[in-house]
Amino acid sequence: MDITILGIESSCDDTSAAVIRNTTLLSNVIASQAVHMKYGGVIPELASRAHQQNIVPVVDTALKEAGVAPDELDAIAFTRGPGLLGSLLVGVSFAKGLALAHDIPMVEVNHLQGHILSHFLDLPDRTLPHPDFPFLCLLVSGGHTQIVRVDSPLEMEIVGTTIDDAAGEAFDKCAKVMGLGYPGGPVIDRLAREGDPEAFRFAHPHVDGFDFSFSGLKTSFLYTLRDAVADDPDFIDRHKADLCASLQHTIVEILLKQLVRAAKEYDIRDIAVAGGVSANSGLRNGVVEEGRRRGWRTFVPEFRFTTDNAAMIAVAGYYHYLHGDFSSLDVSPVARIEE
Ligand code: KG4
Ligand code: ZN
Repeated sequence: MDITILGIESSCDDTSAAVIRNTTLLSNVIASQAVHMKYGGVIPELASRAHQQNIVPVVDTALKEAGVAPDELDAIAFTRGPGLLGSLLVGVSFAKGLALAHDIPMVEVNHLQGHILSHFLDLPDRTLPHPDFPFLCLLVSGGHTQIVRVDSPLEMEIVGTTIDDAAGEAFDKCAKVMGLGYPGGPVIDRLAREGDPEAFRFAHPHVDGFDFSFSGLKTSFLYTLRDAVADDPDFIDRHKADLCASLQHTIVEILLKQLVRAAKEYDIRDIAVAGGVSANSGLRNGVVEEGRRRGWRTFVPEFRFTTDNAAMIAVAGYYHYLHGDFSSLDVSPVARIEE
C-alpha cells in the first residue's frame, strides 16, 4: 500500500513543505528568509514571524505541486527539534491544526535524523543512490557537526561531535570577520574557487577520538587578520580569495581527518555527508577523493537536499510511520534534543 506524507520543516530560517509517496519525492517547496542578511545572523523573533507568514502558502504550494489533497495524506511529519523554539512552534502548531482538521496522524522527526535520512529519497523518474547499513554519516550544519553511525533508518549513534563550534558556524563567523554577509559559508565556497588553499596556514585542533573543535581555528583566523590589517588596511580585500580557499581547505582537512579515523575504527566503507555544509564544493570533492583512495562508497546529496528542506523530514517521517511511531496532539517543540 502506498503511503503519502506531508513533511513540514521550520527549525531555523527556512520554511519548507514537501510531499512524498513512500520514498518518492512529489514536491519540495522552500521559502528562505532574506530578512536576516542585514543583521549578519538569524534573529529568532524575525524568523518566527516570517514562518507565520510563509507556512500557509508553502504548504499549499507543496500539496498543489504534488497533486495531493489534504484528505489523501496518511500522515503529517514535522520537525520537533532541535532548533529555535519560536520557529519550531510555527511548524508544530500548523501540523497539529491540519492533523486535527483532517483527522490525520502526526509523526515527529528529529531534524538531524532528517538530514541523514535525506539519503533515502528517490525522484519520480529515478532512484537515487542509497547507502547500505551500517554506514557513517558526517553531519555538518550551522548548529551541529557530528559523525553518526547509522545501523537502520531509526537506529543511529553519535560517535563524534564538536566540543565547541559547528563547522557551519566556523564558516559563518570567519565570513563575518571578512565582511562577507550571512550566511557566509556559500560566499566563502564561491570565493575559494579563485584562491590558493595553501596560501595561509591556520591552527589545527588536537582532539582525541572522533570529536571536532573549531574554536582554535576561528581564533587563529581572527589573529592572522588582525595582525595583517594592522600593517595593511587593505589586506582582507587584496587576499580575500586566498583567505577563503585556505580557510575552507583547513575546515575540510579537520572534518576528513576524523571521518577517516572513524571509518577505520568501525571498519565501515559506506560513507555519507549531510547538512548545509555538505553543499560545500571543497568538502564534496574532498570526501569523494578520500573515498577513491580508501575504497569507500561515498554518498553526497543533491544540493537541494543539503540545506534545510522538508523532503528529508517527510522521508524520516515515512520510516517512523512504518514503525508505528505517532505523536499525540499535545506534543510540543524542543530546542535541544539530548541523544
Ligand atoms: O543544515 P543547514 O541549512 O541549517 C542547520 O541545520 O544549521 O546548514 C546551514 C549552514 C550555514 O552555516 C551555512 O553557512 C552552511 O550551512 N553552508 C555552507 C554552504 N552552504 C551552506 N557552508 C559552506 N559552503 C557552502 N557551500
Ligand atoms: Zn539543518
